[in-house]
Amino acid sequence: MKKFMKSEELARDDRFTRTAVPLDFLMAEEVTVEQVEETMMTLLGNEDVRKMMEEQGGGGGAPNVFRRVRPEEDDAPVFIKTQMHGIFMGEMQALEAAGRSAWDFTDDDQLPWQFQLDMARQCWDETRHVEIYSALLDHVDCRIGEFAENLFLFEFGCSDDPAERVVGVNRCLEGLALDVFNDTIRFGQAADDDAIWRSVDYVSADEVTHVRFGQVWSKALTEGDPERRKKVVSFQRKVDRAFSLGGLRGSYDGANTAAFLPLAVEFRKLAGFSDEDIAEVAGAGPKVTGRK
Ligand SMILES: [Fe+2]
Ligand SMILES: [Fe+2]
Repeated sequence: MKKFMKSEELARDDRFTRTAVPLDFLMAEEVTVEQVEETMMTLLGNEDVRKMMEEQGGGGGAPNVFRRVRPEEDDAPVFIKTQMHGIFMGEMQALEAAGRSAWDFTDDDQLPWQFQLDMARQCWDETRHVEIYSALLDHVDCRIGEFAENLFLFEFGCSDDPAERVVGVNRCLEGLALDVFNDTIRFGQAADDDAIWRSVDYVSADEVTHVRFGQVWSKALTEGDPERRKKVVSFQRKVDRAFSLGGLRGSYDGANTAAFLPLAVEFRKLAGFSDEDIAEVAGAGPKVTGRK
């Protein structure tokens, strides 16, 4: 079986469509608000979302993408469909990334067997998550393929170095999942929708374990090798910046409940993040110019 697969080689059936990974945007040190809006619409939107934004935005644009939608608002059904579909695709890519991690490094004599076991455990979890989110898509009346998929999670997460791989996939990708899930749990609770918030809460418990794998293995594999650790940290910064989605993310502080996709501080701490780690993720975004 092939090792080190590229993102474009991931198999999908004909229900799925793809948008191109916005590499330049995700790697930029400086972006404009317009670029962020445009990219987010490509990543998250479909025709329905675009139409809704045009109708509501007066001058068009995508300001509503960057605020949290409450269940009683007119946008809520579209918002939760977008969110659920994005998570469903994220789970598929997490499954594929963990599968690659279990298989890609089997020739590496330096890697303890426990590494493969942990990655296999993650595959088992992610498979279950794909099933759960598939059921939740039915629950919010969204069909698979209603939104296009973007492979940026797999693309950025999957380095060929195992220490970087667990940082990209487990620390950064799964960390982002914790933030999105926290947001979805809050939405489900506000909507009084038990199926949503209890299911997502259940999945989050697994994701905490996956993020922890990233924290533990990235340290273990670079122990006593400051050069390699430096390289891994620099990779981590690059992926954290890409996953900041243009840097328009805040952190929960109680007062900041309207911010777009805030960091799930409590979940991240359960997964082994220190205050310093959290501050680093929060500050990882590019410089954003042209803020209104
Ligand atoms: Fe998952
Ligand atoms: Fe996961």
